[in-house]
Amino acid sequence: MIDFTVERSGRPCPAAERQRALADPGFGRVFTDHMITVDWSQERGWHGAALVPYGPLCMDPATQVLHYAQEIFEGAKAYLRADGSVAAFRPQANAARFNRSARRMALPELPEDTFVRSLELLVTADRDWVPAAQGCSLYLRPFMIATQRTLVADKPPTAARYLVIASPAASYFKSGAAPVTVWLSERYTRAAPGGTGEVKCGGNYAAALAGQIEALAAGCDQAVWLDAVEHRWVEEMGGMNLFFVYGSGARTHLVTPPLTGTMLPGITRDSLLTLAPDMGVPAEEGRLSASQWRAGAESGKITEVFACGTAAVITPVGKVKSASAEWAVGSGPGPVTMKLREALLGIQYGTTPDPYGWIHKIC
Ligand code: PLP
Ligand code: COI
Repeated sequence: MIDFTVERSGRPCPAAERQRALADPGFGRVFTDHMITVDWSQERGWHGAALVPYGPLCMDPATQVLHYAQEIFEGAKAYLRADGSVAAFRPQANAARFNRSARRMALPELPEDTFVRSLELLVTADRDWVPAAQGCSLYLRPFMIATQRTLVADKPPTAARYLVIASPAASYFKSGAAPVTVWLSERYTRAAPGGTGEVKCGGNYAAALAGQIEALAAGCDQAVWLDAVEHRWVEEMGGMNLFFVYGSGARTHLVTPPLTGTMLPGITRDSLLTLAPDMGVPAEEGRLSASQWRAGAESGKITEVFACGTAAVITPVGKVKSASAEWAVGSGPGPVTMKLREALLGIQYGTTPDPYGWIHKIC
């Protein structure tokens, strides 16, 4: 594994200011005292690994990422747990997905142990930034950019930089666990077969913004994307996967859209496909069209719908709107959604045991 040098910040955020930020961190607004940086070049491979004070990057205006968006990222969280320790949730799964993204975006792969080590170092250095408030955590944002100076767009990169920044975070949605309203995007497409939908590259999010802006203008919280070919099958939201709850009581089961190559394979989604059946709620992958969603919600066959992701945790979906229709799902946060939310948070915050080995203790 690469060795990291450590340069502690000479001007860390004063404790009182940090405490104020931690009292109401929001999402992605406040950043900690340090960051990780590791360089890669064709000649030297990975080198210059360091924990350094958080600060701006100095880049030549011709740096590749600024023109052709050769960038990938991850999202993970570190939690202050019931026993006082700080742990991350399945960081190895983030490391593996990061390298799948790197392969698709022609960026160099980062050894998985270096990825995990980089998170450990940053969280340990900035431990005081892990919020203690309920539902809060330290959001970790590893990313990689192509750094060679060129306007040539058709060659693999000769230089790249890996970085990690950290940000204390409350829930992604201001409403917390209150149901959100979603917008079915019929005009725009997020990802097409053979494209980059199944990896985490910044370009996917830039391309999704027009649909998200349409969603906000319609009074919705998030856009829901349909498949690019038939414009019919529900795929995912801008930064979350979707689960549909069918039935109630002993006959409850979950369905989530299958990974067709255009959707991001969420780590939360994957965890729920294991966790829910262990809690007595069978869960499977299955296609669902927008009209089946509407019919199912209106007939009462679909009793709850929720979004899931690292940032969003598990958030109930209460209402769906599109250019031509509007329907409600259940009334208020559903019992299955909330039971799964409690179970997942319990493992992450260490209030319930982790029989899966998902928790990675850091400090
Ligand atoms: N789908 C998209 C497009 C995302 O950006 C995310 C967030 O990372 C997810 C789904 C959920 O993935 P995860 O559960 O790994 O955070
Ligand atoms: C995450 O959940 O980590 C994401 O990357 C989603 C993003 C929209 C915040």
